[in-house]
Amino acid sequence: MEKNMERENIIKKLENELKNVKTKNDLATLKAEFLGKNGIVTNLSLKMKEIPNEEKKEYGKFLNEIKVLVLEKIEAKNTDIEKNELETKLNSEKIDITLPARRSLKGSIHPMTRIVEELEDLFVSMGYDVVSGPEIDTDLNCFTKLNLPAGHPARDAQDTFYLDDDYLLRPHTSPAQVRTMEANTLKEPIRIVCPGKVYRRDDDATHSHQFMQFEGLVVGENISLADLKGTLELFAKKLLGEKTKVRFRPSYFPFTEPSCEVDVTCFKCGGKGCSLCKQTGWIEVLGAGVVHPNVLRMSGYDPEKYTGFAFGPGIDRFAMFKYGITDIRQIYTNDIRFLEQFDRKDVE
Ligand code: PHE
Repeated sequence: MEKNMERENIIKKLENELKNVKTKNDLATLKAEFLGKNGIVTNLSLKMKEIPNEEKKEYGKFLNEIKVLVLEKIEAKNTDIEKNELETKLNSEKIDITLPARRSLKGSIHPMTRIVEELEDLFVSMGYDVVSGPEIDTDLNCFTKLNLPAGHPARDAQDTFYLDDDYLLRPHTSPAQVRTMEANTLKEPIRIVCPGKVYRRDDDATHSHQFMQFEGLVVGENISLADLKGTLELFAKKLLGEKTKVRFRPSYFPFTEPSCEVDVTCFKCGGKGCSLCKQTGWIEVLGAGVVHPNVLRMSGYDPEKYTGFAFGPGIDRFAMFKYGITDIRQIYTNDIRFLEQFDRKDVE
């Protein structure tokens, strides 16, 4: 009876104190109070030596029961505390997935890149290869091998930026003609276009010191001015619309003979006359011609066997027309306020 009372008292005391336990630390203190070196249960077991031998067994059983009970209760409390701690942690780390996300900044394709890609697609569909050449090229490739020897007066029209006597920023994409013919060691027929940046000593609203050209070269047997004409008419209509008319005017380039300049009906007024076309109804878009025999010969093609045509539009003007750009210099200043206007707009 007495032992039962004692056990009940201990358990009650434990239960009472457990109510105030909030943390693992508190629990550890409590555990020490009961089972530690000087603990209540420990002290009880020290009494064993005072117990008469015949009762020792029973007393041991009693001690054990208490120990198990105490441990069970402490363990249960520990599980409770851990559960609470986890819940608090989960609550404090909760992410509110209903918050709207921060928008990421998207870039867009530059208007010039769009024009270049459109033209490349057109010419690739006609069996052309797309090539690229360096923006720094030699005097030899840019002029001499295009039938413009040193001192030739036509060099003035394409004055550019020289790095030294031999190297310069290319004033046109025509050196791609030389490079392609020379690289073609088997001297097979050629059909290439070469888009790229070119440089000149110009700077006003319609002329930039840097602009884009799109060179074309076709070399083969029986290639004539008629092929050039058909190709350029297709080019103008695809890019500017089926109604576009094309006009060929005789011109002069040292690397083509005959040479022509090509006009298209004004993109803005359709040919009636406006400020863009200076009331003429026409806009000049490119130079072209039949490849000069000297140019073929200097790059290893026999002009008796092969003929060819070449053309070289400046394509900034097409972008200006297509996207309503009024100052060519805006194309190259990379002002985000300008470039943004060509972004695809998000529909909310
Ligand atoms: N390269 C010439 C220019 O920049 C254009 C051109 C290219 C003319 C090919 C004829 C043939 O003005």
